[in-house]
Amino acid sequence: MIGAMAQLKISKAIQSAFELAKETRKNAHAPYSKFQVGAGLITSDGSVITGCNVENASYGGTVCAERIAIFKAVSDNQTKFTDIVVVTDAAEPAYPCAFCLQVMAEFFKPDTKIWVADLKNIHSVHKFKELLPIPFGPKQLANAKAEAKARAKRR
Ligand code: THU
Repeated sequence: MIGAMAQLKISKAIQSAFELAKETRKNAHAPYSKFQVGAGLITSDGSVITGCNVENASYGGTVCAERIAIFKAVSDNQTKFTDIVVVTDAAEPAYPCAFCLQVMAEFFKPDTKIWVADLKNIHSVHKFKELLPIPFGPKQLANAKAEAKARAKRR
């Protein structure tokens, strides 16, 4: 576990997102890994959008609980988030995978919080920037575009 936290302060909003994530985890379609994950994404207006992992026989078509929650939210025109709670039954709390962190980079602020929990307790909380300190983002694309334009001008 990254930085186990002795005394976590858990607000009602986080507790409620945790309960909803735990409930949604039961809907996981995980016949291949049998690893069920639930996510509770808190929007800036305080609502919770849930997700569970949805696996696919092709394996590569699998989508994690976190991304399902984010995609559900964005498709409902919600793009501002304060927290996400991720629930598994793993002995060691499971952190979001790198694909999910990259999707989070699109919408999360550096200080958006990621809480990881098992079925009983929330174990730790991290700021997004701790889990993905140097994300790839639109800035890199903009720089590349500007450089290409400058090159074209020189020709
Ligand atoms: N999974 C998630 O849903 N979230 C994570 O943070 C890690 C992994 C899912 C993907 C797959 O269905 C299963 O867990 C095993 O990797």
